Amino acid sequence: MKDQLLAPALEDGTEDLVEVSLRPPSLTEFVGQPRIKEQLEIALSAARARAEALDHVLLVGPPGLGKTSLAYILRHELGVGIRCVAGPALERKGDMAAILTALEPRDILFVDEIHRLNRAVEEILYPALEDFRLDIVVGQGPAARTLTLDLPRFTLVGATTRTGLLTTPLRDRFGMTYRLGYYDAEELGTIVRRSAHILDVEVAADAAAEIARRSRGTPRIANRILRRVRDVAEVRHNGKVSPEIAQEALELLEIDGRGLEPMDRELLRAIVERFDGGPVGLSTLAVALGEEPDTIEDVYEPYLLQLGFIQRTPRGRIVTSLGREHIGAAVLSDNSLF
Ligand SMILES: Nc1ncnc2c1ncn2[C@@H]1O[C@H](COP(=O)(O)OP(=O)(O)OP(=O)(O)O)[C@@H](O)[C@H]1O
Ligand SMILES: [Mg+2]
Repeated sequence: MKDQLLAPALEDGTEDLVEVSLRPPSLTEFVGQPRIKEQLEIALSAARARAEALDHVLLVGPPGLGKTSLAYILRHELGVGIRCVAGPALERKGDMAAILTALEPRDILFVDEIHRLNRAVEEILYPALEDFRLDIVVGQGPAARTLTLDLPRFTLVGATTRTGLLTTPLRDRFGMTYRLGYYDAEELGTIVRRSAHILDVEVAADAAAEIARRSRGTPRIANRILRRVRDVAEVRHNGKVSPEIAQEALELLEIDGRGLEPMDRELLRAIVERFDGGPVGLSTLAVALGEEPDTIEDVYEPYLLQLGFIQRTPRGRIVTSLGREHIGAAVLSDNSLF
């Protein structure tokens, strides 16, 4: 099962197009994360003034917080080219070598899910990042020779959900590492209003605030909810989004007062009811839920941890009393959630 609201794209790709249109094009339009913006502004000005490539940047954070958006913003602010690849898509050294040799000076190479690069591909990156050099081994056995190619100075922008997943040599080669945190309700409200404007839908201030409050601190989710709310407003009402219509749509989506979706509640309930509140190991929990352990760790857990609904202990995950209270409410009366 995939998280409906967090999934980057539907199979037909249409959702993705809308997501692209909602992407902030510049740092000024990028809402929130003030410290990251401030530091990036300085780094960008310095790189521009020296007409140099920006230092390599690592962006870390849960899905939907703006890592890809920031990579495109850097490209835009520097006025350079960008090449985007997903870590797992690079299978052989040659794939990475082909990409690196095609870069223009100061271009950005954006590697998403950089923690999923395979070892051989990652190793070819080390000298490329440090000395802008590519070492290629030609031939085999005693006749093998290493050819060294010079690369243009480029900027690697890597995105990952957790730094712990990166090898130390790779992590050490980034000049800047930024951790994106969850957005507060006010920031999300700004994002919802901005998106509503782009999508040309009228949203009452209270309705925008309600969507923001239920978005799990995540801009992508705020935008997804807004689009579903817009559907409800258009199909069942006159197209304008009032707080009542937002409420109606949120109930339809089964998003509760804290922004949790059915899968989040199922996870809490599974730990409480099937594992006696925990501790339960990640892999056991994954099997019980029919989910990938990685998805649980990257998509569901961070926000539940942030809310203090679950805790990670050395022996596994436990549900806290706050978490119990939350689903307890759900068991007693489904309405009390909304
Ligand atoms: N700071 C922001 N201000 C305005 N909109 C934002 C911001 N951050 C993200 N968004 C919106 O959320 C959407 C998702 O962001 P983005 O694709 O950059 O997330 P991501 O961190 O790359 O996620 P993933 O880990 O799934 O790749 C964007 O299309 C954009 O509309
Ligand atoms: Mg992304």
